[in-house]
Amino acid sequence: MTIDNDDDLMHLKSIGRIVFETLLLMKKSLKPGMSTAELDGIGARNLARYGARSAPILMYDFPGHTCISINDEAAHGIPSGRKIEPGDVVNIDVSAELNGYFGDTGATFTVPPVDPRIEYLCQITRKSLAAAMATARAGAKINQIGRAIEKVAINAGFSTIRDLGSHGIGRSLHEDPHFIQNFYDKSDTRTLSEGQVITIEPFLSTSADSTVTAEDGWALLTGHGTRSAQYEHTMVITRGKPLVLTAL
Ligand code: CO
Ligand code: CO
Repeated sequence: MTIDNDDDLMHLKSIGRIVFETLLLMKKSLKPGMSTAELDGIGARNLARYGARSAPILMYDFPGHTCISINDEAAHGIPSGRKIEPGDVVNIDVSAELNGYFGDTGATFTVPPVDPRIEYLCQITRKSLAAAMATARAGAKINQIGRAIEKVAINAGFSTIRDLGSHGIGRSLHEDPHFIQNFYDKSDTRTLSEGQVITIEPFLSTSADSTVTAEDGWALLTGHGTRSAQYEHTMVITRGKPLVLTAL
C-alpha cells in the first residue's frame, strides 16, 4: 500500500511495534530443550494481548502463529514438538494484522555453540539488509535493493536464495510490489514511490540459491548441511532513509 494519511501511519506503526516486540520476546525466551511449539505459544500470547491476529493463519491457514525455521529450513517452518538444540540456527518470522493493517519482521538467532562461519553469515545478512535499506528511497529502482544484497553476499562468499524475496505490505501481508528480488534483476524496471510500504528481507545461505518444499507442505529447505539467515523489517519509503515500522 501507499500511505495516504496520518491514520494509516499510526496503524502501521502500531502493528509494526507489536510484531517487533513479539520477535524480541521470542528471542529472549529461546533456549535449548524448549520445543518450537512452546516458543510459538509465547509469540501467540503476546499477539493476542493486543488483539493482533497472526498473518500466516489469517492469510494462508498456516499451522502455527509464527514461522520457526531451524537449520536447513530457510523459511515457513511449522512450530512443533521439535526441541531446540545447542548449535541450532533458528529463524523466527512474526507477521500479524491489527485494524486491517499488517506488519512483518524476522530474524535469525544462533544457539551456542555455533560455527563462527554461521555467526559471520548472520552478520553479513544484517549488513546486506542495511545496504539494501540505504538504496531504498522514492524514485530509486526496486532492483537496487537486490543489487545491494547480492553484492554484500557475494563479497563475503555467501549466496542469496533467489526464490525468496521482499514484498509490498500494508492492507495485506503480501501485496504490490510483489516479489522484490534478493539479487540484481536487470529487467526489473519498477521504481519505489514516496509513502510505499514494503518489507526488505534478504535471505543469505552458506551455498544454496533456491529452496524446495518439505514433505509437510510448508517448510522451505535449502539442502542437507546448508544454513541460511534472514532479517526483515517493514518500512515506509521516503525521499530519504526509509521509516522503519518494525521498531519499539
Ligand atoms: Co516475514
Ligand atoms: Co515478509
